[in-house]
Amino acid sequence: MTAPRIEPARLAPHALLTRYYGSEDERQRFVRELFDTTAVDYDRVERMLALGSGAWYRRQALQRAGLAAGMRVVDVGTGTGLLAREALSVIGAHGALTGVDPSAGMMAQAHLAGVELLNGCAEALPCADAAADFVSMGYALRHLSDLDRALAEFHRVLRPGGRLLMLEITRPAGRLATALLKSYMRALVPLAARIVTRRGATATLWRYYWDTIEACIAPAQVLDAMRRAGFADASRHVELRIFSEYTASKTGPCERVEPSPVTNRAAFGAEDR
Ligand SMILES: C[S@@+](CC[C@H](N)C(=O)[O-])C[C@H]1O[C@@H](n2cnc3c(N)ncnc32)[C@H](O)[C@@H]1O
Repeated sequence: MTAPRIEPARLAPHALLTRYYGSEDERQRFVRELFDTTAVDYDRVERMLALGSGAWYRRQALQRAGLAAGMRVVDVGTGTGLLAREALSVIGAHGALTGVDPSAGMMAQAHLAGVELLNGCAEALPCADAAADFVSMGYALRHLSDLDRALAEFHRVLRPGGRLLMLEITRPAGRLATALLKSYMRALVPLAARIVTRRGATATLWRYYWDTIEACIAPAQVLDAMRRAGFADASRHVELRIFSEYTASKTGPCERVEPSPVTNRAAFGAEDR
């Protein structure tokens, strides 16, 4: 399926990284192709390096954010399903999970039973209004085109009282900690990934991973964007100085920034579900 084109950003999580691409169109294509090409290696490298945080951490974060048995979950940027798998173990047989991702290659590696996987993106979710009790997004925030629009979509698909969790890696405070993390993530991880997978693109993915962390907007801006979207109790919990858990709930009908026109919405309407 052709991936949607997202209109120019209002709140891009980071500026264009010109060493990789020269325009927003190119960025979207680059990211999709990078994940498509490296999807077969993603889980292996992620597990080996544990910096995407392991299954245990993901499950704990979901429970801290209020995920419980029987809930209906929309997992955005579901990729190979690492966060979705943990969500399934929490919601159990009476829950339901829909995964959404623009990379068909990543989702092809998500071998999850009883899950609905939809090609789409955070900025134009292929989901009905108020269809979810819980929206999760693991380590995809840095890849969005427009955080405001994505948050407006999360707000739309959550039922009143529903919960949002966004996991992301953020730069630690302090120059020394940042320098240490940078050497690990920008040098060691790509080298190890290259040796283990023998794929140059996989090394590029993990180098790009750090570059987006370094260029990403500050946590305070993410929290502001959550409030602008209508979430009332936006907060950030940090583990080990780098694992940020942004949580909030939809409290009911309230003021929010109207999303800019989404031209690709029709491509991901109810008929695709
Ligand atoms: C680092 S992977 C994370 C996968 C999984 N959530 C996890 O916890 O490991 C990021 C995923 O975000 C997806 N992605 C990129 N742009 C996106 C967008 N605009 N909307 C939703 N997902 C996006 C990528 O295709 C990729 O599968």
